[in-house]
Amino acid sequence: MFTVLLIILASQSVHRSTEAVLQRRHLANNQIERDCLTFPEPIKEVLAQTGGTAVLPCKLTEPSVGIVTWIRRKDRQLLTVGSTTHSPDARFVVRPSSSDWSLLIKKVKKQDAGLYECQIPTVPIQHQFICLKITEAYSVIPGAPDLYVKQGSSLRLECQLMAATEPPIYVFWYRHGRMINYDDESGVTVKATKNGSTLLVEKTKSNHGGNYTCSPSNARPVSVMIHVIEEEEKPAAMQGGGDLRSSAIKFSSNLGLTFIMLLVVHTVQKYLNIFILRYT
Ligand SMILES: *[C@@H]1O[C@H](CO)[C@@H](O)[C@H](O)[C@H]1NC(C)=O
Ligand SMILES: *[C@@H]1O[C@H](CO)[C@@H](O)[C@H](O)[C@H]1NC(C)=O
Repeated sequence: MFTVLLIILASQSVHRSTEAVLQRRHLANNQIERDCLTFPEPIKEVLAQTGGTAVLPCKLTEPSVGIVTWIRRKDRQLLTVGSTTHSPDARFVVRPSSSDWSLLIKKVKKQDAGLYECQIPTVPIQHQFICLKITEAYSVIPGAPDLYVKQGSSLRLECQLMAATEPPIYVFWYRHGRMINYDDESGVTVKATKNGSTLLVEKTKSNHGGNYTCSPSNARPVSVMIHVIEEEEKPAAMQGGGDLRSSAIKFSSNLGLTFIMLLVVHTVQKYLNIFILRYT
């Protein structure tokens, strides 16, 4: 019972801390959203993911113009002048063409979110405003953090990329911290999917159990604990979270049985005492 309580308490605190993180992220996004929404001029929105490349468009209405500049609004930092990067941060690069002078921001960080301005030297000067929003991609394995699989049956782990704006370059699978994508283990295959990767184990053996991590090139990794159930184990252990409850029931029913036994012993003893008193 104590363990069950501990687990409940632990899961509650984990839940609370993730909630706090989400709330903070929400607040930061709200601030940027407000800055973008209250801006007096029309703005375009661009969504990019951390670690990826953001492309901020700057469309030209006339083919031959002078020097196009890009400015970050929050600190008035001049980022690019013509086709050269002016900022000391080399992640800012302009991609000139006859109709568009897009600003590329490589290896995007959360702090890059906000308003950007492209100035086109026509008469009068044209300003184009872009609101850059950042998402952080993460991975999900349905069934995580604990999966139970019967020895001899097949195991299929699906790793899905969430909140991503770009596909990953690669998705690595780790077992106990060791990358297994290119292992020549028979019966174990890794396949790329549209938005993630699948790991398939044809016939699960006991040495297939353990900690598996899916780590896409551009997203937060996720881990899952694989528990291989040996043939001789009781089926009650197979039902994931259910085994906790059933062992709790078993425990309490054992307690009940002990209590009844004690009661019986006690009653028998009492009658025995009366019997002994009466007939001696
Ligand atoms: C990835 O694919 C799964 C199922 O195929 C889907 O549930 C999930 O929403 C997808 N994620 C994204 C970011 O598209
Ligand atoms: C599994 O491995 C990952 C990566 O090494 C680690 O962060 C995580 O804590 C491990 N999970 C368990 C349950 O050991």
